[in-house]
Amino acid sequence: MDATRIASTTNVDIEATGVRVPNTPQDAHPRNPEDANVHLETKDVHIWFGQRLIIEKVNLSFPENSVTALIGPSGCGKSTFIRTLNRMHEFIPGAALAGQILYDGKDIYDAHVDPVDIRVQIGMVFQKPNPFPSMSIKENVLSGLHLAQIKYENPDEIVRNCLERASLWTEVKDRLNASASSLSGGQQQRLCIARALAVNPKVLLMDEPCSALDPGSTRRIEGTIKELSQEMTIVIVTHNMAQAQRVSDYTAFFLAEEGAPAQVVESGRTDEIFMRPKDPRTNDYVNGLFG
Ligand SMILES: Nc1ncnc2c1ncn2[C@@H]1O[C@H](COP(=O)(O)OP(=O)(O)OP(=O)(O)O)[C@@H](O)[C@H]1O
Ligand SMILES: [Mg+2]
Repeated sequence: MDATRIASTTNVDIEATGVRVPNTPQDAHPRNPEDANVHLETKDVHIWFGQRLIIEKVNLSFPENSVTALIGPSGCGKSTFIRTLNRMHEFIPGAALAGQILYDGKDIYDAHVDPVDIRVQIGMVFQKPNPFPSMSIKENVLSGLHLAQIKYENPDEIVRNCLERASLWTEVKDRLNASASSLSGGQQQRLCIARALAVNPKVLLMDEPCSALDPGSTRRIEGTIKELSQEMTIVIVTHNMAQAQRVSDYTAFFLAEEGAPAQVVESGRTDEIFMRPKDPRTNDYVNGLFG
């Protein structure tokens, strides 16, 4: 779906003339993420690999049903940070974390919280499409349900619904039993999105989901992201500044300076980060002067 349709379905102004004027997607959201209905929130998050502090004191809010882009130079810790948001970080030997990650107000790292349950509710799509190659398209969509041991009825309905929401249905509906490896890279990435959707996540984390894709596939996935954001909270890492502006409502700029740990230099509404950045380093980065 394109931005125009989002705007027209989510937010319209009625001018004195009575003419309904669609706003930009960002106008559907408050100026500051903290003022919105916060879904996911980080408080004083610090991240280490071994003795090395990688990320320092990150306080970010991710409003419900919005898209937040994480931007910053290579190696500054965007992937590391996004992995902490659904407890994927703890799979890495030597990884440590301090601070809190609140999901609907509750710390996902509390001792009594089941990490598997968190990863069902907060799904993830990786940079490289990673469908199970020996499984069919249909089996791939249903695989997350099996792995999480979620009981389900009507598999055909689930498969169709998830593939439709991932904008892949029309391309694969006649070959659902074909191997996932027979799909193109862009189709495989949309299949991974469909697989993530099958467990019905409330938050979707995406780490450079379009970095290996052609412009057409990228646009289709961006459309999918905008559409999904009407019903879930999305966090996306991207190096593509045009993509951040097209797809996100909010942006956070990460930067690690001179061997220091990365911090968030600036965060807020995407239009403001790109058009009226407060920090000169943000201005230089979004205008391609470094990174
Ligand atoms: N498993 C690991 N063990 C030790 N250090 C790591 C590990 N993974 C990442 N790092 C280091 O953490 C820092 C942040 O890496 P990360 O992959 O999060 O950066 P990034 O911002 O996602 O970069 P890119 O844009 O290139 O993907 C880097 O210095 C990296 O070398
Ligand atoms: Mg990365």
